[in-house]
Amino acid sequence: MQNNSAVKVDDQINEEYGVNVYNLNVWYKNIQALKDINIDIKKNSITAFIGPSGCGKTTLLRCLNRMNDNIKGFRLEGRVLINDRDIYKINKLSELIELRKKVGMVFQQPNLFPMSIFRNMKLPIRENLTGLSGKEINDLIEKKLKDVHIYDEIKDRLDKSALRLSGGQQQRLCIARTITIGPEVILFDEPCSALDPISTMKIEDLLTDLKERYTIVIVTHNLEQARRIADYAAFFYQGQIVEQGTNEDIFINPKEDRTIRYLSGKF
Ligand SMILES: Nc1ncnc2c1ncn2[C@@H]1O[C@H](COP(=O)(O)OP(=O)(O)O)[C@@H](O)[C@H]1O
Ligand SMILES: [Mg+2]
Repeated sequence: MQNNSAVKVDDQINEEYGVNVYNLNVWYKNIQALKDINIDIKKNSITAFIGPSGCGKTTLLRCLNRMNDNIKGFRLEGRVLINDRDIYKINKLSELIELRKKVGMVFQQPNLFPMSIFRNMKLPIRENLTGLSGKEINDLIEKKLKDVHIYDEIKDRLDKSALRLSGGQQQRLCIARTITIGPEVILFDEPCSALDPISTMKIEDLLTDLKERYTIVIVTHNLEQARRIADYAAFFYQGQIVEQGTNEDIFINPKEDRTIRYLSGKF
């Protein structure tokens, strides 16, 4: 990600960025939710979207894997590249499904199925990865549960309902499920806003681990969280990115008056 003055070279394949957004404008019916958004998101890093409610953070996040497509009145102009491919040029359903595997999403509320922990892990594997033996599936589940640091806590109750886990455990299980399918980019929309401080810290540690392997974008209302874990941040206000840059650019040396006021709790 670069500063606002970024010059984009469109026809150059970029190893550095997992996501590039060019001149993006988005409307819900006649209300414009995003205005001329330009942002490049670096691979293997955490980028935080911050800003007051209703300023377009979730809308942009959901544009990155075409989750808004089915909303009535939704309209988009501009380009979103994932690994240099314009995702809004994808027409085939099979390719859209591939895109959703590549760009995983974790929501504010854990969205587990009302079934066992094991089946919550196994279902997406069955749907998305073909040709694995029973043992390979079991090994994969164990590995991914270890990757999100939850295996030791739950290994004796994999056959029990996932909905009996604590909120923080459910959220880690959602993350395990997402990384099982092999994404490159993971989008998090306020993943900790329903969690207590200890569970929140565990998720933050986990995200810091995961960025070694994935490109992470997180919407958060928690400025301290963004300051702690984000390598890059973008401040949104009324559908625009007012300022973007490194953690230090935004949290130590913000330039724009609106960023400074937001960071000091003025609105
Ligand atoms: N499904 C929708 N239909 C109509 N308007 C929407 C929809 N989702 C969001 N909006 C509007 O778009 C703007 C941006 O919302 P959103 O992206 O959810 O902001 P944030 O995540 O920053 O709180 C708001 O004015 C909101 O009311
Ligand atoms: Mg939101």
